[in-house]
Amino acid sequence: MARSLTGKVALVTGASSGIGWELGRQLAAEGCKVALVARRVEQLAELAAVIARAGGSAEAVPADVGDRAQVEAAFAATKAKFGPVDLVIANAGIGRATLRDPVNMTDVEETFRINLMGTVYALSAALPEMLARKSGHLVAVSSLAGYTGLPSESAYCASKAAVNVYLDGLRRHLRGTGVLVTTLCPGFVKTPMTEKNEHPMPQVMTAEYAARRMIRAIRAGKKVYNFPWLLTRLVKLSGWAPDAVVNWMMGDYDALAQKSIAERRNEPGS
Ligand SMILES: NC(=O)c1ccc[n+]([C@@H]2O[C@H](COP(=O)([O-])OP(=O)(O)OC[C@H]3O[C@@H](n4cnc5c(N)ncnc54)[C@H](OP(=O)(O)O)[C@@H]3O)[C@@H](O)[C@H]2O)c1
Repeated sequence: MARSLTGKVALVTGASSGIGWELGRQLAAEGCKVALVARRVEQLAELAAVIARAGGSAEAVPADVGDRAQVEAAFAATKAKFGPVDLVIANAGIGRATLRDPVNMTDVEETFRINLMGTVYALSAALPEMLARKSGHLVAVSSLAGYTGLPSESAYCASKAAVNVYLDGLRRHLRGTGVLVTTLCPGFVKTPMTEKNEHPMPQVMTAEYAARRMIRAIRAGKKVYNFPWLLTRLVKLSGWAPDAVVNWMMGDYDALAQKSIAERRNEPGS
């Protein structure tokens, strides 16, 4: 049976843009009190204002999820404002290409620090209180990319595979404690992360639509939620496909990866 989220305290990481922004907005519209976590303070404040104008309740709580102390401080600030957290959505993530030669090691390290450790820090910070209260819901936004390794996406795919397996273990470990665990694996979503992608993005979804499906899966208490279903099948089948076919589908991935990294280096502030 679907659970009501009304009145729950939710903490969403990566709430300053894309999927996280929509999750924060829609959870507030459902009656959650929402802590909005990310590094860019102005964007978080803007979303908090959007939510307040719509009659909801939200607080901007700036933090770098790759820094455990900052994540724990964000939970303490949320508790002080709204009370203990009932629902955590570890959504913050980065998508950086992995180059072939030389490997862009700093990007690889950042990918694991934010996508994997950022998730582990956020879920772990919530856990002691949830276990004491025998209730709560831990959620991570992973990706269908976690089911296979794609050329020029090795670090991203591996970070999401690690998230999937970590959450499988955590879910089994928490069985019977009253704390639920849900892994969300979307396909392509139109957000700042994907706006410069030049390869095809089959079945691409809006962030508004993806967040709506995610919240429905959370309310239903799903263990693992992969969507959309056709892309899920294709990604899982690609594990058996010849490498040449997968490479052909990805296009001239190495040139695109070089280009995306060069563009990022030219962005102001980078
Ligand atoms: N878009 C897709 O097609 C797609 C598909 C599958 C899965 N996903 C996953 O969905 C999640 C959200 O991605 P998105 O597409 O919405 O991307 P996005 O628009 O680029 O948003 C990423 C969010 O993560 C935050 N973030 C990044 N590094 C952070 C850090 N160190 N500390 C705190 N927050 C940090 C960003 O905020 P700040 O920069 O302000 O810190 C931003 O709010 C990611 O985990 C991504 O891997 C996306």
